Amino acid sequence: MLRYWSYIAILMTLISCSGDEYAVVEDLDENKELEVPQPAYFPELTYDINENPPTEKGFELGKKLFYDGKLSSSGVISCGFCHMQEFAFTHHTHRVSHGVGGALGTRNAQPLHNLAYKKSFNWDGAAAHLDAHFIIPITTEVEMNEEIGNVLEKLKDDPSYQEMFNAAFEDGQIDTKNLFDALAQFLVMMVSAETKYDRVVHQGTAEFTAEEQAGKALFDSKCSSCHSGELFTNQQYMNNGLPINPQYDDKGRGRVTGNPDDDYTFQVPSLRNIEFTLPYMHDGRFDTLEEVLDFYDSGVEETPNISQEMYNENNVPGIPLTEEEKEKIIAFLKTLSDVDLTLDERFSEF
Ligand code: HEC
Ligand code: HEC
Repeated sequence: MLRYWSYIAILMTLISCSGDEYAVVEDLDENKELEVPQPAYFPELTYDINENPPTEKGFELGKKLFYDGKLSSSGVISCGFCHMQEFAFTHHTHRVSHGVGGALGTRNAQPLHNLAYKKSFNWDGAAAHLDAHFIIPITTEVEMNEEIGNVLEKLKDDPSYQEMFNAAFEDGQIDTKNLFDALAQFLVMMVSAETKYDRVVHQGTAEFTAEEQAGKALFDSKCSSCHSGELFTNQQYMNNGLPINPQYDDKGRGRVTGNPDDDYTFQVPSLRNIEFTLPYMHDGRFDTLEEVLDFYDSGVEETPNISQEMYNENNVPGIPLTEEEKEKIIAFLKTLSDVDLTLDERFSEF
């Protein structure tokens, strides 16, 4: 009997608690600021969070927009269609991305992580600022193939969006600025800094295996001149001697600057989460890390503007590696995987 009453008492407390919680949420019209994670070992933030501080409501709106096909002309291609969470927000099963009506692009979708720390965006740096980037996928024919004006009209026709824009922004306007600010608020929260590598090197709570440790030493001596620092990129545009793909003849950075000295250079990609972001390179030509290392070992070509860093001690382009060395480097690269990011419900569609 006593048991029974204490059960009822607990139940009553639970009901009243959840009642209270509900009331608070209902009354709450303040919009809490969210903190962008800033690991001590990361470089300075590049995104100006004072200009556009992420808030709970802005983040929720950004997430809804990210997963909404309304941003495309066909109504079905959302940002999340090409940037899938389980692959660290890259596209999968396609070398190059594939947008409205199945139209094929020319480039492999990049991962979305640590964007608040990036200096420029896209393989060629076509966007110097994150907010300025979004116009590209929305209006590119082979991506979302839509006009911003149409996107705004579609959002205005949906009462749930008016409510969310009101909650997220003081002026509540459904306009380009607020659309891009909300997307940015969602994206800058995707910080990936909790991997085995970080636990070993920065937190001292894990240890590398002998193979990983040997891989790190090889990586430090052969790869880190370009894939440097805690983001594993120097954020420069470089040419790693990848043979030119005649199908696209993609000139990379040169396409943006018009300077022939920049032709065939691409932004050095971060190697965090590299295990999940296959296929590899700007055109997705390699399916595995083994293929990538085979390329560095024996596939490097002296293409125009190849980086000086690609020449080995014999002044020949390439980074000679034994099979064993390749395996060690790959073991090390896999310590950069952040499974939590791929499962984090805050960023999930459902
Ligand atoms: C059709 C597939 C596709 C869609 C849809 C798409 N993207 Fe992308 N995204 C890509 C590709 C491909 C790249 C690389 C583009 C390049 O280098 O030219 C990219 C690059 C990016 C980058 C740059 C990342 C970096 O590290 O520089 C960001 C940010 C981004 N996309 C966000 C978005 C957002 C937000 C949306 C929705 C508004 C979106 N994308 C829709 C395929 C897509
Ligand atoms: C000269 C600078 C440089 C050096 C040295 C270098 N890389 Fe790269 N790496 C790049 C560039 C630039 C790209 C992108 C090339 C492209 O897509 O055209 C790249 C791409 C990659 C990719 C594919 C990333 C992705 O997201 O698709 C991997 C993996 C990689 N490098 C690993 C390594 C490893 C391992 C080493 C050492 C054995 C190394 N790199 C040495 C500049 C360099």
